[in-house]
Amino acid sequence: MRRESSIHGQWSSKLVFILAATGSAVGLGNIWRFPYIAGENGGGAFVLIYLACILLIGLPIMMAEIALGRRGRQSPINTMATLSREEGLHRAWGFVGWLGVAAGFIILSYYSVIAGWSLSYVFRAAGGAFTGLDADGVRGMFNALVSDPERLLAWHTLFMIMNVLVVARGVRSGLEKAVKFLMPALFGLLLLLVGYSMSQGHFMEGVSFLFKPDWSEVSGDTILLAMGQAFFTLSLGMGAIMIYGSYLSSKASILKTSATVVSADTAVALLAGLAIFPIVFASGLAPGEGPGLIFITLPMAFAEMPGGLIFGTLFFLLLVTAAWTSSISLMEPAVAWLVENRGFDRPMAAVIVGGIAWFLGLGTILSFSLWSNPIGFSLTIGGEATFIGGTLFEMADYLTSNIMLPLGGLLIALFVGWRMTQRSVEDELGLHSRVLFKAWYYVLRFAAPIGILLVFLKAVNLI
Ligand code: PHE
Ligand code: NA
Repeated sequence: MRRESSIHGQWSSKLVFILAATGSAVGLGNIWRFPYIAGENGGGAFVLIYLACILLIGLPIMMAEIALGRRGRQSPINTMATLSREEGLHRAWGFVGWLGVAAGFIILSYYSVIAGWSLSYVFRAAGGAFTGLDADGVRGMFNALVSDPERLLAWHTLFMIMNVLVVARGVRSGLEKAVKFLMPALFGLLLLLVGYSMSQGHFMEGVSFLFKPDWSEVSGDTILLAMGQAFFTLSLGMGAIMIYGSYLSSKASILKTSATVVSADTAVALLAGLAIFPIVFASGLAPGEGPGLIFITLPMAFAEMPGGLIFGTLFFLLLVTAAWTSSISLMEPAVAWLVENRGFDRPMAAVIVGGIAWFLGLGTILSFSLWSNPIGFSLTIGGEATFIGGTLFEMADYLTSNIMLPLGGLLIALFVGWRMTQRSVEDELGLHSRVLFKAWYYVLRFAAPIGILLVFLKAVNLI
């Protein structure tokens, strides 16, 4: 059954949906996570696998997620339950919604801590703290920040409050203006950074690191990480895009909007990579620097370029804003559910969700100081001993990006591709071209789920 609107409201236009979904997609995943994970995993081959996952798995699943959201028009938990009932399916499909809500809490808990780092860098940049620093100097500054739990706590708390404030008012007010300004500005500044990188003489080294594949280095885990990054960066598999789809007008084209969001997200990630790696090579740093990568490379660029004080401040400000428009979408599925099923008003629901994620975030804060020793166990598979575990931050990140989101995506692909009737799917998707529908349906039924399964099996050495 087609539903025309959600009790939580509706985007004022198709463009606003595109802005909101792009706001959800473009964030720390593009500018912070993509470069450092690509750097740790050898670049080229990782990037190409990531791009393949975006196209073959990400885009079709994004369309499926929006279609589900728009058909159910409720929080992901209730959308899945309602659609299962409507299609005569088992109510256990509601699990997909719960899995997503859990993933949302865990992601938000560490996302807010990293956004806190960015927030603190806004003030450093503005205060001229980067001036005259070399690689060791900026690394020292970064290490001093992350090993100071009290300072991290303050920034994390501030960022979480910013989220609660927006979500309490409803994601629509404010978001529209924020993203309309943010996207062009972010693009502009990234282009400027890429231009600066080009002028530093190591540009081609950066380009070949990013795009020249060395397949001999690719392991099952590399592929899993690339697929995980594709899910993370597109906000897929946890219901964020589903709930944004639930506020989308029935008339909008799901294909066109998805293609726009995916292109914008991919462009921002690649620009970030092109800006960062030449600086990495020009300053003798290693690509595998880890989560601090952008906080170590970019300050050096801002320290040297003319106008660096202004550009640096603006850049970190935009990074915070990009993180902000993403994190509110992480809260939305749980908030909508609390409003629907527990009778809370939006502000109260936002405080509860923000509060829980804030508390969980303490684990990430301490992962860089008191609890920086990895915890876990050794497992021997096929005579090869592997350590499974890490810091709480590493485990939260790995579990969500590489396991929970792809699993959520797999279940969504199976639900839409195999369990819903083709008639409902076609009706909701509203694709006018038969050929395009068939192509998408085929990829969603076969390529995407088989791809995800193969990557899972490969990662645990079963194939
Ligand atoms: N896509 C966001 C980013 O790249 C992160 C995110 C993941 C947001 C999952 C919502 C859901 O920063
Ligand atoms: Na992203």
